[in-house]
This record gives sequence, C-alpha cells and structure tokens, in this order.
Amino acid sequence: MIDPKIEQAINDQINQEMTAAYSYLAMAAHFEKANLSGFASWMYQQRLEELTHAMKLYHYLIDRGGDLALKTIENPQKEFGTPLEVFNIALKMEQANTASINQLYKLATEISDYATQSHLKWFIDEQVEEEKSMEDAIAMLELAGDDRSAMLVLNQQMGARQGDPGAPAE
Ligand SMILES: [Fe+2]
Ligand SMILES: [Fe+2]
Repeated sequence: MIDPKIEQAINDQINQEMTAAYSYLAMAAHFEKANLSGFASWMYQQRLEELTHAMKLYHYLIDRGGDLALKTIENPQKEFGTPLEVFNIALKMEQANTASINQLYKLATEISDYATQSHLKWFIDEQVEEEKSMEDAIAMLELAGDDRSAMLVLNQQMGARQGDPGAPAE
C-alpha cells in the first residue's frame, strides 16, 4: 500500500503535468495566431509530452494501489509576447516542475519508498532534457534577435520536431 503523503504528492504532480499541458496548448494557440505554425507545432508536441508524464504517474499510482484524485486545472496564461518571452515563461515553468519532482523524490527518500524513488528517476532525467530544450530555444531566439528572416528559419526548424522516441508509450 502506498503512503498517503506520497499518494497526495503524486496526485499533485499529475495536476502539475496536466497544468503544463494546458499552458503549452495556450502557447500553441498564441503561435497559431501569430502565424508561426512551426512554433505552434513544437508546442503541440510539448503538450503531448506533458500528458504522457501525467499518464505515467497515473498508472504508477494505480499500480501501487493508490487512489486517483483529479483536481482543478488552473486557467493558463492567455496573452503572450514575443517567442523569446514565451520560451522564458516555459523555462520558468519547467524549473518549477523540476523543483516539484525533486521535492517528491525527497519525500519518497524520507519515508523509504524505494519504488517511488525508482519511478521518479525517469522524471529527474526527463527534466534535464525539458530544461535544456527550453534553454536551447531561448539561445536560438536570442541569436535571431529582431531578424525576421532568422525567425522564419527558426519557425521552420521548430516545426520539424518529432515526437520524443524516449517517451513511454501509453
Ligand atoms: Fe512534465
Ligand atoms: Fe515538461
């Protein structure tokens, strides 16, 4: 049986992943409106990744005999600025998510829940990738600056993103 504190923390984490998915969908809509379909497509992929993360935790919770408690998903931010501003927000969101995963891991360590620690290792590695992909996008956008043709090239590059082959199948 899973510890109630871990059960609650996993439910919170599921909510956080769903909230991230919702935010990335809002960012995709912003890019669609700005005619940056490559950036929008990148955000759709990112949204799918977050849903996959939520489902991975969902199945884990159920496999451990825990109870699922789905919570309200907050309204995401609706108005955004430049692509650089969007990716800075995304980076902050990922950093907050990393902190939350780390907190969950700490809790699992404190109560000697080895199975949860093991399960979370995948998420710890994944967060390194998540933060890196935002940092890479920020670096490219900073290089592009106000150059519109560079922005169009970036838009095309971002649109070429494929699904993450490392992501777990559902
Ligand atoms: Fe995630
Ligand atoms: Fe993420």
